Amino acid sequence: MTTPPENERVLIFDFGAQYGQLIARRVREQNVFCQLVRHDLPAARVAEMQPAGLIFSGGPASVYAPDAPKCDPAIFDLGIPVLGICYGMQLACQALGGQVRPGVSREFGRAHCHVQDADAIFAGVPVETVVWMSHGDQVQTVNGEWLPLARTDTCPVAAVRHRTRPVFGLQFHPEVAHTPYGSQILHNFLYGVCGCTGKWRLESFLAETVAKLRERIGSSRVICGLSGGVDSSVTAALLVRAVGPQVACIFVDNGLLRKGEADKVRRTFRDNFHADLHFVDASDRFLNALAGVSDPQEKRKIIGHVFIDVFKDEAVHIADARFLAQGTLYPDVIESGAAADGPAATIKTHHNVGGLPAELGFELIEPLKDLFKDEVRQLGKELGLPEETVWRHPFPGPGLAVRCLGPVTKQRLDVLREADAILLEELKAAGWYRQTAQAFAVLLPIQSVGVMGDYRTYENVVAIRAVQTDDFMTADWSHLPYDLLAAISTRIINCVSGVNRVVYDISSKPPATIEWE
Ligand code: XMP
Repeated sequence: MTTPPENERVLIFDFGAQYGQLIARRVREQNVFCQLVRHDLPAARVAEMQPAGLIFSGGPASVYAPDAPKCDPAIFDLGIPVLGICYGMQLACQALGGQVRPGVSREFGRAHCHVQDADAIFAGVPVETVVWMSHGDQVQTVNGEWLPLARTDTCPVAAVRHRTRPVFGLQFHPEVAHTPYGSQILHNFLYGVCGCTGKWRLESFLAETVAKLRERIGSSRVICGLSGGVDSSVTAALLVRAVGPQVACIFVDNGLLRKGEADKVRRTFRDNFHADLHFVDASDRFLNALAGVSDPQEKRKIIGHVFIDVFKDEAVHIADARFLAQGTLYPDVIESGAAADGPAATIKTHHNVGGLPAELGFELIEPLKDLFKDEVRQLGKELGLPEETVWRHPFPGPGLAVRCLGPVTKQRLDVLREADAILLEELKAAGWYRQTAQAFAVLLPIQSVGVMGDYRTYENVVAIRAVQTDDFMTADWSHLPYDLLAAISTRIINCVSGVNRVVYDISSKPPATIEWE
């Protein structure tokens, strides 16, 4: 099967792998476009998509478990190269006559691997190399149809290839950094076995996406919700690049933004987008609706509803709008199980308070839905967005309402805004902003005793939260230097009236979450 280079893609079958997205990252780093798909995608659909190769991910199941996820066996007859990783290898071997047994010893961590056949996928890999194992079952014996390619001390068949079909298997994980030659092995599979030519580049993605957007949108108008965050800014920039003045952006100031944020968004927009901006100051509407509410979920619900109402009210002023653009990213698509061919498991269902319901009646445009966050950042740079926008930390839809614990009032929000602004300034000045994934201040619903000058004070406590994380599903607290923490604390207590104590949050996620509410 020949694949036109512009459509060159690899499909990653998701068998519930912990590392599924990581495999996708590694493949894209080799300039090959790939998509994570459901493990049971029918062979006919696979044939239609004309992939250059297939990768079967690992997964937690045993291939012998009654409900073990399987692929459509007809896939092996399509002649498309397959690389099975861990569970994926066991599945391929089992489907094509190899024997899988529960491992004599379960193996987790680094293992020394001895390469027996240095051709094909092991080209350029030393005979003795280190690999990362994480499995219970393993392939115990391979029959005449399969050739062993490598072994470790405890795993007699650490890699295999089929004699007559382009099917390979690795018991170890080439996608993790702990397998130093993992990228080489993936490269060998993609380029040597699948014949990929490596045409996937963000620049070509940009040009293709702009062309597709122009074709789809024609002369209609598009509404784009702008939050000031990376995803919505890049979405807006892409649309403006594609159809210029046909784009109308709506920015809702909900009164729950950081200090100076609304002005910053306005300025960035004016300097970077030549399009129509509908700036809606709805602070009073939000704050009135939130009056007296302390429960976090209740806050989220109210903010979500008011947002939709405000957005709707503004959208009616945009004549002839047919499309609504959203900055949904690839991990959102995967996690919500929303992609037609994507894996079924739903991991994350909450969070998008800013999400707009289908009954608004627009056709949805999601130009970033094939990209990872760092690819979106790169695209933002490519589109000429300022560094500050491109590297901005994520900010939750309900904004400061979930960082102002207890009742949300303008006066309490102002105290929080001042403290939060000092934190960000100090982090940036010390070069720590880019080293943290998210950092913010939280206003606690308690007061504490202090002494200022000769006076006893009884005032607010501010907590500082700063975390390191790649995916926001797990996170560790940032080990900020003591001097920096001291500078932040001193400045907040000296400059923000109403605050006499600052504490640093040293909880990781899990069991805590990143936000306090
Ligand atoms: P948690 O607190 O669940 O946060 O560890 C993980 C990430 O999600 C963000 N977050 C939200 N984003 N609406 C959003 O748009 C929300 O209701 C919401 N709650 C949490 C949080 O800031 C972090 O990046």
